[in-house]
Amino acid sequence: MNSFLRPSRRVVLMGAAAMTLPTLLAAQDQWTVLEPQKTMAQILPASYPATEIWAYGGTSPGPEIRLARGQRVQRRLRNSLEVPTSVHWHGIRIDNAMDGVPGLTQDVVAPGATFDYDFVAPDAGTYWFHSHNQSTEQVARGLYGALIVEEPDPLDIDREEVLILDDWLMQETGVIDPAFSASHNRSHAGRNGNFVTTNSRYQPVLPAKKNERLRLRLINAANARIFPLALHGLSGWVVAYDGMPLAQPEPINDILVLAPAQRMDLIVDVTADEGEPAALVWVNEDQPQIQVGFEVTGTASLATRATPMALPPNAALSMMDMSNPTPASLVMAGGAMGALRQAELNGKTLNFRQIAAENQYWAFNGVVGMTDNPLVDVALGETVRLKIENETVFPHAMHLHGQHFREILKNGSMGPMRDTLLVGGRENTEIAFVGSNPGKWLYHCHMLSHQDAGMKTWIKVRA
Ligand code: C2O
Ligand code: CU
Repeated sequence: MNSFLRPSRRVVLMGAAAMTLPTLLAAQDQWTVLEPQKTMAQILPASYPATEIWAYGGTSPGPEIRLARGQRVQRRLRNSLEVPTSVHWHGIRIDNAMDGVPGLTQDVVAPGATFDYDFVAPDAGTYWFHSHNQSTEQVARGLYGALIVEEPDPLDIDREEVLILDDWLMQETGVIDPAFSASHNRSHAGRNGNFVTTNSRYQPVLPAKKNERLRLRLINAANARIFPLALHGLSGWVVAYDGMPLAQPEPINDILVLAPAQRMDLIVDVTADEGEPAALVWVNEDQPQIQVGFEVTGTASLATRATPMALPPNAALSMMDMSNPTPASLVMAGGAMGALRQAELNGKTLNFRQIAAENQYWAFNGVVGMTDNPLVDVALGETVRLKIENETVFPHAMHLHGQHFREILKNGSMGPMRDTLLVGGRENTEIAFVGSNPGKWLYHCHMLSHQDAGMKTWIKVRA
């Protein structure tokens, strides 16, 4: 049933047998290399010094990976950093061995070593890849990029833009603040930056025409920042969350919230006249700011267009049999101003002060960090109904690897398919998913300092 997730071994072996050793080596050398490395980049405005970042192939965002639905991705990670790393392909229903989680699905890739990532991307949509080792530091330093899987047929749009939002915690010298494990960030809202960018540029301006129709693929690569966003001089629809198409485009009348690791595909029409302002706006609490500007020159067409069609659905993801789900529950506790009295850390029961002394702050079901036994252990095809109680005062962007889920809304209806759900402070909710991909899958907060400070667990789907 899941064979489409794996490149066929049979074909690989037959191919290899037919090749002599030199041709085999030559074929291997054709792998596209993905090389994390130190490099200099002008992140701050030109009047400030350049910044040493860590980046795939020397640019952040890294080189975009774009392919057709069902196509195979082969990337040889060559680690040119001085520290170990790994790559996670966020949101892809991937073969477990390719998921990039050190200690769960692979070993870390040492400096100078390589690791071959080889998988099929079964669903169209907007995804991303990022380091999954020491990720609070490695993602903050720039190790991420877009992974775009195209629909079989082109959409009725004029153009598309991939927009990766991030915030950098910068010193005026252009140095990235090196306090990646600062206890305040770990125990509060996470590491929020002080310099917000899109595709590593501050308030980029893109060309546009009146009545032009654009697809915007938004990706939040920030460590912890939740972006409330609005349109100005643009109007449009959300057509997908976290890569997965909505059955119907949702008109945008309100603020859109993009939590860490989440994606949103928008289709927008340029309503501003030539010379008028148009922008994707970051509705920052203090003062709204331009996130991405559009400079409107000329007219694409005289008429406005009809509501866009929904994106074509991805295969067999929509139906969930909710008649007899396996129940599970997750209580999230801890953090500053939380009420965590004690929890288990490395097999010992400790009080909050003792836990904080280890720079840990959060517990899932009374345990800080990974457990020997999974939160959920299900057979392939089994539906899980997971109750989530957030006893902390902070919001958390909860990400499940390997399969998408739906939130069960308060009125009982099902929310959109997602891989990352923002759970508000002191909020309770429920999600449901089908264990549809065999393996060991991480489930964690994507506020990366929270993940490091205890907020991670895992689920098991038996083959
Ligand atoms: Cu985007 Cu566990 O990661
Ligand atoms: Cu969190």
